[in-house]
Amino acid sequence: MKKVLVIYGTTEGHTRKIATFIAEHLRAHGAYVDLVDSATPAAAAVQPTYGAVVIAGSLHEHLHQRSLVHFARENAAWLNAVPTAVVSAGLAAAIPDPETQAQARNNLQYFLDTTGLKPARTKIVAGALLYTKYDWFKRTMMRLIAKQMGKDVDDTRDHEYTDWDDLRRFVDEFARQARIADGGG
Ligand SMILES: Cc1cc2nc3c(=O)[nH]c(=O)nc-3n(C[C@H](O)[C@H](O)[C@H](O)COP(=O)(O)O)c2cc1C
Repeated sequence: MKKVLVIYGTTEGHTRKIATFIAEHLRAHGAYVDLVDSATPAAAAVQPTYGAVVIAGSLHEHLHQRSLVHFARENAAWLNAVPTAVVSAGLAAAIPDPETQAQARNNLQYFLDTTGLKPARTKIVAGALLYTKYDWFKRTMMRLIAKQMGKDVDDTRDHEYTDWDDLRRFVDEFARQARIADGGG
């Protein structure tokens, strides 16, 4: 059974949901999966014993979580020697404007450039507006941004934009590429 690491950074919790979804789907492919939050001591204890890795983070002011950047940079040498996928979640991916989409791609490229990661696959995923998890300042700011971007402004509840079917297809492709169902290493 192939051992796979799914490591994620999250600020409000949505990327945990994305990473959990990816981990469950990889398990359905027959992988043995460890799911690790990059902001916990478990991240520093990760050993280079995995046959494939998925790294997922989300954008806040154009940057991914610092703990995830740290993990990727520290472990880039062995990560680049196994099939690796990078998933980047953000609001930009939910906005069908070429400039905003280009910004999301640039943010992902910046993550790769600053960590030295050379993943086999990358995926930009629409995240969520988690109004109920924001403090007053964040809620006001995000409501304003959402209004400008034509997204949901009802801040009495959360709004999720992730296309789970599309993400499932991405995981299927990665599982095939990383030969996760083969039962090897
Ligand atoms: C303060 C703040 C800043 C954000 N900045 C960006 C950004 O620069 N680009 C983007 O695409 N999304 C941005 N987002 C949207 C988040 O990436 C999105 O809500 C994502 O689902 C958060 O994932 P998390 O809950 O795992 O942290 C921002 C959200 C907040 C609250």
